[in-house]
Amino acid sequence: MSVTDLTADLRSDTLTRPTPEMREAMAGAPVGDDVYGEDPTVMALQRRVADLLGHEDALFTPTGSMANQLGVRLHVAPGQELVTDDLAHVLRAEMGAAAVLSGISARSYPAVGGLLDVDAAMALAVTEGGAYQVGTACVVVENTHNFGGGTVQPLEAMQDLHHRAHERGMAVHLDGARLWNAHVATGVPLADYGACADTVSVCLSKGLGAPVGSLLVGSRDRMAEARVWRKRFGGGMRQVGILAAAGRHALEHQLDRLAQDHARCQRVAAAVAGAVPEAVDPAAVHTNILVLHVAPAGWAASDFIEAAGERGVLGYATGPEHVRFVWHLDVDDAQTDHTAAVLTELLTSREPARG
Ligand SMILES: Cc1ncc(COP(=O)(O)O)c(C=O)c1O
Repeated sequence: MSVTDLTADLRSDTLTRPTPEMREAMAGAPVGDDVYGEDPTVMALQRRVADLLGHEDALFTPTGSMANQLGVRLHVAPGQELVTDDLAHVLRAEMGAAAVLSGISARSYPAVGGLLDVDAAMALAVTEGGAYQVGTACVVVENTHNFGGGTVQPLEAMQDLHHRAHERGMAVHLDGARLWNAHVATGVPLADYGACADTVSVCLSKGLGAPVGSLLVGSRDRMAEARVWRKRFGGGMRQVGILAAAGRHALEHQLDRLAQDHARCQRVAAAVAGAVPEAVDPAAVHTNILVLHVAPAGWAASDFIEAAGERGVLGYATGPEHVRFVWHLDVDDAQTDHTAAVLTELLTSREPARG
């Protein structure tokens, strides 16, 4: 087999392509105008996801970013702020949408591996600021944590956050783009995670393998309001049952499969740590995302990504010293073994940086 045959595109789990069975389910889906609330396949998907997460209702959105932005828009008025961790997707990768679209400012606490730090969030939050300080209306938590390295947030910490935020009159929004991975990794029911937040966003277009689609879940009243804001944000969609059908198929057939991605990612983490322990702690690799610290092995992240790419392993530099590889539906065992060999070879090929 040539290197090209083995090329592993691990830049993101958004790269998955719909399977033939998923395409079939999409082609046969009954549809209607979803802005009129008349698409039966969208309605069935919304019902299914609301039930899975233990909330009253759900709203289908084109992207996870829109679901997050609707969530925070519901909780935070213009001129108020949200609090989250400094690696959060809502802060780093949604193009400043909360500020631009909703007049929301944000402050963040430093989070090791994206781990939720309830004390730090509570210490930042201002709920008695009067006419002097910006008031904090919402805490956002991400589970699993993307830039943190697929980190699963402990359920107890999320419950603690929910309790303490509510005590101080703040809402909790859970960015659950990969909540499915947390559920499969821990066995914690999705509804137990759902109970820790006022709104939850989930994505169908990451490891689950649908080509597009996310949902926001919450109370019936909040979802009615979110429907108005979705239209205002330009996300009112028409006969999108064909997309919702992909999501329904994914939930039915591709949820449990995520365990395979986790096992493959862990296999590479263990192989790399066996050769270069400073690069990664396998115990901190919880799901399908591997973040390597390449600087101690003498590499700049961008050079490392280029060298790995030349050897058929595609990844992403998340900063000057760190690189990220993400497992998904379209990466198999042979590509995983090839990845372990390439990453280990590169990390052991240079003089380690002296600290
Ligand atoms: C944690 C997290 N939240 C939200 C999103 C946004 O999803 P989308 O790309 O569909 O806007 C992503 C995308 O990768 C993500 O990783």
